[in-house]
Amino acid sequence: MKIRKAVFPVAGLGTRVLPATKAMPKEMLTIVDRPLIQYVVDEAREAGIEHFVFVTGRNKGVIEDHFDRMYELDATLAARGKKAEQEILARDQPAPGAMSFTRQQAPLGLGHAVWCARDIVGREPFAVILPDELVLNTPGCLAQMIETAASLGDKSNLIAVEEVPAHLTHQYGICGVGKRDGRMFEIDGMVEKPKQGTAPSNFSITGRYILQPEIFQILETQEHGAGGEIQLTDAMIGLSKTQKFYGVDFDGERHDCGSRAGFLRANIAFGMARNDLRADLREAMRKYLEK
Ligand code: G1P
Repeated sequence: MKIRKAVFPVAGLGTRVLPATKAMPKEMLTIVDRPLIQYVVDEAREAGIEHFVFVTGRNKGVIEDHFDRMYELDATLAARGKKAEQEILARDQPAPGAMSFTRQQAPLGLGHAVWCARDIVGREPFAVILPDELVLNTPGCLAQMIETAASLGDKSNLIAVEEVPAHLTHQYGICGVGKRDGRMFEIDGMVEKPKQGTAPSNFSITGRYILQPEIFQILETQEHGAGGEIQLTDAMIGLSKTQKFYGVDFDGERHDCGSRAGFLRANIAFGMARNDLRADLREAMRKYLEK
């Protein structure tokens, strides 16, 4: 199964981290020195994705600018002999024509956002990556999923999952666990944000999916679900009647950067993973822990 395209739903309002996201998209929040959106595009590129589809909304234009070439900046860096900085920008530059942007005109939910990408994705399997969930690991989460997909049938769907404590299951989509095979299992039922004490397992749906294009037909007529939104999980439940779904309990640490504590934790984790910052950061943390 060849996965060429990835969809990034980036229309969300980011209300959990206001006021940071009042005038700036949450996808542009920086972890160390890179915006969230850059990390997930890098993860997709590492996994072999060739085309990047962004479902944006109002006030998200800066995401498109971020992936554009900045001629004035390039010229100034060149004039000042700043080669390392020029190389950083060149490395992050997408290939011409490799990105598409479409708009979700109203905040109707994740399922609706994915549906907005249907014409750009067309009739091929595709990945969905939620940019506020970062995974620190090499190979990245999507690369692990694509490797797993290679051993499965052509009409398979995969979801990255992670165990969460029982008292947090109501915050996520949760998968029922069928036959297990190492880090992978057949998904036996799904539920979006189950009421406390009713979750079929502790395996939460994280922000990575590989889906078959038939999901779009289901989303077309999808009813509003949990929270009054058109839920991707509900459409997946529909598709699971005719196609297989697998959970991939990936290797790596997941950070929910759309929450304040998760965002701070991610900065520490990604900072500590950097050779140029580790010593300073460790020193600073020691100081604050002693206070
Ligand atoms: C969405 C999905 C949910 C998933 C979560 C992961 O929910 O609907 O199934 O567990 O992302 O972050 P949201 O966080 O957008 O409410």
